[in-house]
Amino acid sequence: MKRINTFEQYEREYNRSVLAPEEFWAEQAEQFTWKKKWDKVLDWNFDEPQINWFVNGKLNITENALDRHLASIGNQTAILWEPNNPNEQAREISYNELHLEVCKFANVLKNNGAKKGDRICIYLPMVPELAIAMLACARIGAVHSVVFGGFSFKSLTDRITDSECSMVITSDGGFRGTKDIPLKSVVDEALESCPSVNKVVVLQRTGEHIVMQPNRDVWWHDEIKIVSGDCPAETMDAEDILFILYTSGSTGKPKGVVHTTAGYMIYTDYTFRNVFQYNEGDVFWCTADVGWITGHSYLVYGPLLAGATTLMFEGIPTYPDAGRFWSVIDKHKVNIFYTAPTAIRSLQALGLAFVTPYKLDSLRVLGSVGEPINEEAWHWYDENIGKKNCPIVDTYWQTETGGIMISPLAGITKTKPGYATFPLPGIQPVLVDEKGNELQGNDVEGRLCIKFPWPGIIRTTYGNHQRAKETYFNHYKGYYFTGDGCKRDHEGYYRITGRVDDVLKVSGHLLGTAEIENAINEHKDIVESAVVGFPHDIKGYGIYAFVICDHERNDTDNLKKEIVETVTKFMGPIAKPDKIQIVKGLPKTRSGKIMRRILRKIAENDLSNIGDTSTLLDPAVVDEIKAGAII
Ligand code: WTA
Repeated sequence: MKRINTFEQYEREYNRSVLAPEEFWAEQAEQFTWKKKWDKVLDWNFDEPQINWFVNGKLNITENALDRHLASIGNQTAILWEPNNPNEQAREISYNELHLEVCKFANVLKNNGAKKGDRICIYLPMVPELAIAMLACARIGAVHSVVFGGFSFKSLTDRITDSECSMVITSDGGFRGTKDIPLKSVVDEALESCPSVNKVVVLQRTGEHIVMQPNRDVWWHDEIKIVSGDCPAETMDAEDILFILYTSGSTGKPKGVVHTTAGYMIYTDYTFRNVFQYNEGDVFWCTADVGWITGHSYLVYGPLLAGATTLMFEGIPTYPDAGRFWSVIDKHKVNIFYTAPTAIRSLQALGLAFVTPYKLDSLRVLGSVGEPINEEAWHWYDENIGKKNCPIVDTYWQTETGGIMISPLAGITKTKPGYATFPLPGIQPVLVDEKGNELQGNDVEGRLCIKFPWPGIIRTTYGNHQRAKETYFNHYKGYYFTGDGCKRDHEGYYRITGRVDDVLKVSGHLLGTAEIENAINEHKDIVESAVVGFPHDIKGYGIYAFVICDHERNDTDNLKKEIVETVTKFMGPIAKPDKIQIVKGLPKTRSGKIMRRILRKIAENDLSNIGDTSTLLDPAVVDEIKAGAII
């Protein structure tokens, strides 16, 4: 398949995508299998918002990710699976086998009552069955909603109830490093308050004892034995929902980001091939968990649509030791490696002794995603992993954008450490000031918006269109607002400076401060809390919680431990606060709003820049908090 090969060609394609976007994307769409061609390429209005790509086109994404490849590369490995324990056998699943497994599991779903349009929650560890379950949903037109295994029962309940899932696909547990994660028991607890769910399909992975609820729970391995391997792909409209993926927002309730079929398919395939400069036969490894958008777009859909071999790793970078990533690269001769700055920084901190034993000579391209990459980590990655021989693509995008938006094309775009460089074809970025005035020219800094739809853009937030409108399309009229700050330097290079709203990037995970506060407030002694981020060497941002206790407790160390346990139980270990300060009051305005700006300055130890506190109800609380700050 064609891809951009030179920077001049990139510039030509970019200009074409701006001048004639419909023609540009129709050309990409032609390369896929359609059951019926579209009538119109694009219908859109950002005010509603209403965005329809490939109007009235009919297709099924699995025919494009699987069936389309069988004649040419049916025997090639589609999913290469590396287990948590390096002594366990790796698995190689060819396109032929994957196709068969997906069809079989799609029949399991049907046998258990699933049908087109149903929402199905997937809560699985990083095993090939996770991808099989997603594709099986897509095969029959059910909407998958994958929930990251690092979330615990309350987060799972909220996500299942919001989209009224009728089924959950889970496993007894999962392996991560030395830990066994008990997924099924979390599901059992979550389902106590999810009346919409009537079936649970359980994969056996760890073999630990679990309780199967009669009439509700069935085993994957029993069900798969009694189905045929033939499952015609459901006919889907281009704009039928492919999946929902929850992401955190500035309220406590996560948003169900909706992606639809054709646009997402075309955009993930296009960006995968061009950004990473994928060559036929390359082994591609994206280390993200499939529970996040990066795993959806560049572990499952993008690579499979392009007919690549995608590596899925069950474990963690430090097990059995901090050389695991590098050993897996040598073992499977990985050509393209895509990971997060937080992983790079944590491995960098553990020292080069874990890197030097490995050759890493199969590597051709390196990628980074999820948060700004600091220059030091960029250089470490470049020198020690890429041996100064592999271009680094610093890819900027979001759950809501479906695929990569601003990024170098590997080996084609001249990179600058810390810069995501230039927009991909189809992406028209604008920087605005706080009032929404467009900042023209170079050497400007503002808020990042996009002014024209691309095929992978969010269509709505599930069950609440108004929320999508207010969050993304109302801030600056006529633009999609990313929520990120951004700088365009004197050469037109883009650098993302971080979030400008109340969400935090902690170890690459997007977490809402309000959601963490809700979890903290579940502790019986806590009456109120406020969470802000503070710069953290490894995680990017750490979590700083200010909490008010309803009575004096002398055992503050115990109290802090209990708070951490509460957050782990209700939201998940990824949201554990790094610092907890017990305070008597929070800085509030007379109308009762918490002035987070002040708390952020205290958490950042930037005490001289706290600014005006005279509008506070009780300015004295600031001095008290400053005096007790944990630096
Ligand atoms: C941040 C992850 C700087 C950004 C794909 C964005 C980045 C948020 C980069 C979305 C990057 C992602 N440089 N910042 N290369 N990539 N971000 O939805 O703040 O989990 O808004 O999607 O991550 O996070 P999400």
